[in-house]
Amino acid sequence: MKIAVFCSGRGTNLQAIIEAVKCGEIKAEIALVISDNRDAYALVRAKEAGIETLVIEPKDFPTRKDFEKEIIKHLERKKIDLICLAGFMRMLSPDFVQRYRNRILNIHPALLPSFKGTQGVKDALEYGVKITGPTVHFVDEKVDHGPIILQAAVEVRDDDTEETLAERIHQEEHRIYPQAIKLFVEGRLKIEGRRVKILNETNNK
Ligand code: GRF
Repeated sequence: MKIAVFCSGRGTNLQAIIEAVKCGEIKAEIALVISDNRDAYALVRAKEAGIETLVIEPKDFPTRKDFEKEIIKHLERKKIDLICLAGFMRMLSPDFVQRYRNRILNIHPALLPSFKGTQGVKDALEYGVKITGPTVHFVDEKVDHGPIILQAAVEVRDDDTEETLAERIHQEEHRIYPQAIKLFVEGRLKIEGRRVKILNETNNK
C-alpha cells in the first residue's frame, strides 16, 4: 500500500509516521509528501527519510480545481492508496474528497465534534474543558467532520498554557495517528454510518 502525506508545517506527525513505517509497525510505503508551503519543515524531514517531496502552492494556479488537478496528477502517478493529512492547513474540495472517499485521514488536536477549526487547542483551553485530546478521523466534505477512528484523552492542568497543553496533545497524536494508519493498512477499519468499527487482528470480524 502506498501513502501520501500532506503537510503545511512542522511535520512532527509526519515524523511519527515515518518512524512507524521504518520500524515495520506500518507495513506500507510513504511514497510522497506534498506541501502547499515551500517553507514547511516537514519537507526537510521527508527528504532526510528519502521520500519524494512536492511543493504545490495554490498561488501558482488560477483556481482550486487546477491546484487539486495538479495534486491528483501526482497521486495517480505514484498510485497512492491512502492520503494522510498531517497539519495540512487547506480544505479539500468535495470533488477531491469524493474521488478518494474513505481513503483520506486527518488528525485534529481536539476531541471532535468539539472545537473544530484551526485553533482546537486554544479554543478548548479557553472554554475551560478539563479533558481534551486528539482525534483521527476519515475526511468527508465538511470540516473536521468525518467518521472518527481513534481519540485520546489529555487532562488539562490548571497551570497549562496553549503551548504546554499542545505539547502533551502532540505526544498523543504521535501515538494514535500511526496506530490508525496501521489499522487502515491492515484493512481493519469498518465504516458503518458515522461509526468506525475496529476489526479483530486475526479473523477480521
Ligand atoms: C497537529 O496539532 C494536528 O492535530 C493539526 O495540525 C498539527 C500538525 O502538527 N491538524 P505537525 O505539523 O504534525 O507537527
